[in-house]
Amino acid sequence: MTSVAALRVSRVTGSDSLNLALLKDAITGLSASAKSLSPKWLYDERGSALFEQITGLTEYYPTRTETGILQHHAHRLAGLVPDGGALVELGSGASVKTRLLLDAATHLDAYVPVDISSEFLHRTSDDLRGRYPNLEIVPVVGDFSQPLDLPESVMDHPKVGFFSGSTIGNLEPEAARMLLQSASDWSNVQGFILGVDLVKDPEELVAAYDDSKGVTAKFIANILIRLNREVRANFDPAAFSYEARWNVELARIDMLLISTRKQTVNLPSVRIDFEAGEPIHVSASRKYTPDSLAAMVGSAGWKLDHNLMDAKSRFAVAFLSPSEELCEAVEIRQRQRLPSRRTTVAHGKRK
Ligand code: AVJ
Repeated sequence: MTSVAALRVSRVTGSDSLNLALLKDAITGLSASAKSLSPKWLYDERGSALFEQITGLTEYYPTRTETGILQHHAHRLAGLVPDGGALVELGSGASVKTRLLLDAATHLDAYVPVDISSEFLHRTSDDLRGRYPNLEIVPVVGDFSQPLDLPESVMDHPKVGFFSGSTIGNLEPEAARMLLQSASDWSNVQGFILGVDLVKDPEELVAAYDDSKGVTAKFIANILIRLNREVRANFDPAAFSYEARWNVELARIDMLLISTRKQTVNLPSVRIDFEAGEPIHVSASRKYTPDSLAAMVGSAGWKLDHNLMDAKSRFAVAFLSPSEELCEAVEIRQRQRLPSRRTTVAHGKRK
């Protein structure tokens, strides 16, 4: 429905350069009674550079804390990775933190970085081939929110997944569960290394998402600038103020753009009315406790085997093992040649 409207609009404006996927998402999100936009649109070139800047801020503890945990426990984690295994990283980016694992786990055979940005992925892969001449680098262009089609060359390898940065916190709990469940379905999967941010003092959390230099505010407001450029919306970014709120019930930080006044914004084919003080929900960052983490991974076919934390329990790097009932189910399925019981997660490449 919306895409038809969008197509019509691009004909009316005589342009096919509108980002139709963004327009469709924006129309859906902004027409709802509780307005929202999807955080995946935050990461254009400027957004990615701003996020990079965030990771270096004093208030933003997750990146350096996770890096510290990986450094401190690199050998322990390497010991949990099988000989001749393949490390499969979802949302690999520049693979910077990964190098801590690759340096320690010299018995790995292959590294499969999965990222949505093809150009970046291939540049990073070339760099890694130079750094790790004995490691087979098998990049896969893909969206981590979709079940992964593993490359044939690593199908038989014992595999360990890696999803760092607490990116899983961006997903709704059901989507997070689906992602992990889908990974538990990989052929010959032996483990999963998951970086998650932990519940803590709300003041510390809010500061991490509303820094004193205003970099996060700029990062979030960038989505309005992107809408203006890519779908020809007419947002006045100065008429929205940024707010980070700790949502106790859902254990998450909500990142909001608040309309500072009553106003109307036009998108191709729709007008969006804002009340003064009305928020647009742009991103949520879920925080876990060791218990809520164990429960979430448990419901997705994994067992929380090792939970590695920093001294202040700010962040966790969890090592998950396939849970036993699941291993049995997979064996029975393979013996009887039954299809996967998870019909919701389409997976063609099971061995
Ligand atoms: C990249 C999703 C992990 O939620 O901490 C940081 C994104 N947004 N500051 C996070 C983010 C605002 C970040 N993740």
